[in-house]
Amino acid sequence: MEYRSSFLVIGSGVAGLSFALRAAEHGEVHIITKRGITESSTNVAQGGIATVWDEKDSFDNHIRDTITAGAGLCHRDVVEMVVRDGPNRIKELLDWGVRFTKREGENGEDFDLGREGGHSHRRIFHAADLTGREVERVLVEKALSHPRVHVFEHHTAINLITLNRFQSFDRYRPDECLGAYVLENETGEIHTFLADATVLATGGSGKVYLYTSNPDIATGDGVAMAYRAGAAVANMEFVQFHPTCLYHPQAKSFLISEAVRGEGAILLRKDGTRFMPAYHEMAELAPRDIVARAIDSELKKTGDDYVLLDISFKDPDFIRSRFPNIYEKCLQFGYDMTKEPIPVVPAAHYQCGGVLTDLNGESEVKRLFAVGETACTGLHGANRLASNSLLEALVFSKRACEKAVSTYLGKKVTDIQVPKWDPGNAIDPDELVVISHTWDEIRRLMWNYVGIVRSDKRLHRAKERIDLIKREISEYYWNFILNTDLLELRNIATVADIIIRSAISRKESRGLHYNIDYPYRDDENMRKDTVIRLERYSGV
Ligand code: FAD
Ligand code: SIN
Repeated sequence: MEYRSSFLVIGSGVAGLSFALRAAEHGEVHIITKRGITESSTNVAQGGIATVWDEKDSFDNHIRDTITAGAGLCHRDVVEMVVRDGPNRIKELLDWGVRFTKREGENGEDFDLGREGGHSHRRIFHAADLTGREVERVLVEKALSHPRVHVFEHHTAINLITLNRFQSFDRYRPDECLGAYVLENETGEIHTFLADATVLATGGSGKVYLYTSNPDIATGDGVAMAYRAGAAVANMEFVQFHPTCLYHPQAKSFLISEAVRGEGAILLRKDGTRFMPAYHEMAELAPRDIVARAIDSELKKTGDDYVLLDISFKDPDFIRSRFPNIYEKCLQFGYDMTKEPIPVVPAAHYQCGGVLTDLNGESEVKRLFAVGETACTGLHGANRLASNSLLEALVFSKRACEKAVSTYLGKKVTDIQVPKWDPGNAIDPDELVVISHTWDEIRRLMWNYVGIVRSDKRLHRAKERIDLIKREISEYYWNFILNTDLLELRNIATVADIIIRSAISRKESRGLHYNIDYPYRDDENMRKDTVIRLERYSGV
C-alpha cells in the first residue's frame, strides 16, 4: 500500500503524540508505532517534568543546574529557550487534562513539586510516581479521538525514503526526506508512507545494553534510520546510567525513581554504612553520573552485587502515597520499603545524544525532524539533568510543528514516483536463534566494554567485535525476509557502533563518559560535540 498525509510521525510517546496533536490542527497526520500505542518510555516515566513554578525558584537556577549537570557541553541558547518555555508547556498539559499531584501548602492547595539529583530547588511536576502514564493517558485519548490523526499500531519503520539530488562522489548527502518504508508486523507487508514532513519520535536506545530501565521498544531505531539516511548524529557516547534500579532477577531493572532520594532516601553499602557524602557535597542528590559512578566504584571495591537504598525511616503512609507504584512493585519482589532498605544497581537509562537538530527540531536532512529522546538538541550536553527529558520533548515538538507547518505543509518535494520496497530474493530464515544470540552478544559486549567506566583497551575490543557482528548481520539482513527482531537487531548494532566510535574519539572524561586512560576533562581540545555522519552507505 502507499499512504500519503501532511505529516508522518514515527512513534507514539510524548514527543510523537504532542507533535501529532498540534499538527492535526493543520493537516492529516499518520502516526506509526511499532507495538501498542502506549508502549513507550513515556508511559513508564516516574519522577516527572522539571519546570520553574515556585516563586522562590528562578529560570536562572534551572538554567544553571542544567548547565552544571551537562559538564560544559550544553548549548546555552537551547537551555534558556527550553527552561523559559517550561511553564507554558505545563499549563498546556493542564489544559489538555493532565492531573498532577497537589498538596496543601501555606497558601492553600498547590502543586506538589518534587526534587531530584542535580536540582537546587523543588521543581518537578509529578503524578505520584506514575507521571508518564498520566501524560500518555491524556495524549493517547486526544490523539485517538482526533478526526485527523490516524494511528497505525504494530507497524515498524524500516528505513527513511530520501531524495538524493545533491549526492556527490565522495560524500553521501541526501537532500530531502519523503517518508518511510514501514513493515506491518503481523502480515509482513511493507508499505510506503509519504508526507510533507516526517518526524522521528522513536525514543532512546537502552536495549543496546544488557541491563536497562527502558522498555523493549528502546532499540535506537530513529538514530539508526537517520544515520543510514545521511543525517548527522551527535554525542552518542553520553549514555546515562540511572543509579537506582531494583536488583532482582525478575525485576527487569525496574526503576526506583530519583524522587525517592529527593524525599530523603540514602544509599548504603551492604554493611549499612553510607558512602555518598565522601563522593560529592550534594551526597545522594549529586548529578546522576556521579552517583552511578560512585555505586560502580563501591561495588568493585566490596565485590558486592548491589548497594542498598533506604527510606524506611520515613512515615510509612507518606511513602505509600508518594510512591504507590514503586512500593507495590517492591512488595511483589519481597521488599517492603517502609520497613527495610531495598537492593539497587545502576542500569542504562537515557540516550543524551541522538539525531543532531537545530532549534526547530529539524535534522540536517530537510523535511526530517527528530524530537524527544531520539534527538540531540544541545539541551543535555554531556549529562542530562533529571526530569528535563519530558520537558524537552514537549518544547521541541511544538517548535518542530511550527517549522513543519510554515515551511513544508502543502509544498510537495516533487511528483516523482517513489519505488516500492524491493525484497530482493529474501527467504524465510530457518534459524531464528541466530538473531537472539546476536542480540545478546551485542548487549553483553556493550555492558562489559562500553559501560559506566571505560578504557581504550575495552573500547577497541568492543569495536573489533561490533565490526564483525555488523558484517554478519549485513549478510543475514539481505538474505532473509524482514521481521521486527531482525530490524531491531540491525538498529542496535548500528547504534552500538556509533556509541563505540563516539567514545573512542573522546580522549577525556566528561559527564557520562569516563575513560580511565584519560581521567580528566580537557576543555582545550575536547569541549565540543561529537558528530558522526555516514560517509558511504554500505548496507548496515
Ligand atoms: P518514547 O516515549 O520512548 O516513545 C517512542 C515511541 O516510538 C514508541 O511508541 C515506540 O514504539 C516507537 N518506535 C520506536 N521505534 C519505532 C519504529 N522503528 N517504528 C515505529 N515506531 C517506533 N524523563 C523525565 O523527564 N522524567 C522522568 O520522570 C522520567 N522517568 C523515566 C523513567 C523510566 C523508567 C524511563 C525508561 C525513562 C524515564 N525518563 C524520564 C525519560 C523519558 O521518559 C523519555 O526520555 C521520554 O519519555 C522519551 O519520549 P519519546 O516520545 O522521545 O520516546
Ligand atoms: C526518575 O524518576 O528517577 C527518572 C527521572 C528521569 O529520568 O528524568
